[in-house]
Amino acid sequence: MSSTSLFSRRHLLRTSALAGAGFFISTRVTRTLAQAAAPSGPFKLPPLPYAFDALEPYIDARTMEIHHDKHHAAYVNNLNKAVADYPDLQKMTAEELVRNLDKVPEKVRTAVRNNAGGDYNHTLFWQSLKKDAGPLQEGPLQEALGELFGDSETGHREFLAKALGLFGSGWVWLSVGKDKKIVLETTPNQDTPWASGNQPLFGLDVWEHAYYLKYQNRRADYVSAVANVINWPFLQDRFDKLTA
Ligand SMILES: [Fe+2]
Repeated sequence: MSSTSLFSRRHLLRTSALAGAGFFISTRVTRTLAQAAAPSGPFKLPPLPYAFDALEPYIDARTMEIHHDKHHAAYVNNLNKAVADYPDLQKMTAEELVRNLDKVPEKVRTAVRNNAGGDYNHTLFWQSLKKDAGPLQEGPLQEALGELFGDSETGHREFLAKALGLFGSGWVWLSVGKDKKIVLETTPNQDTPWASGNQPLFGLDVWEHAYYLKYQNRRADYVSAVANVINWPFLQDRFDKLTA
């Protein structure tokens, strides 16, 4: 199969061998990364976990720099503004905020939804990408993807179709549903799968700011390029934790 296929060269087996109960979501990673930078307010821009050019030629350095230093930074700054008058919200992580939007005062709920979502989604996105991370290995994640898609070519095709079918700005997700099976879904804007009760495993940013400098309107080329830099070991570990 093609090296640009989203789900590795390995054939994904159909199996129902997902097991486990309960789940674990680490807020510690978000908290630890958030302590690394220091503009005003409780929320900090986490450093990009690699150099701007680390994902070249698939994602160009200039896009990464603007995406992280301008776009992600703006979500963090606007989140700090949104919670400025709410000490209880300031004590929460971005993940805790997006998982508990119903507890956020209505006056700032939309701002928190958009900007905590933007912070959370991008932090996960950076972690989910890595060059030469290696292919998807045999194991629970491969089995779960196989159960959903059957084979890797179908997985790539269906993920791409979701990305191309998303009108406007948003994210394409591989999420973990309540039954521990993987769900392919989209969210608009900076909404997260948490809003529908699913746990986000991998989100692909399909806002134009994620690809327009290099790929212009060719969203399909961007999606296929990202397939080359997916951090499968990270996602395998995350899937294990989400389904533990
Ligand atoms: Fe983005």
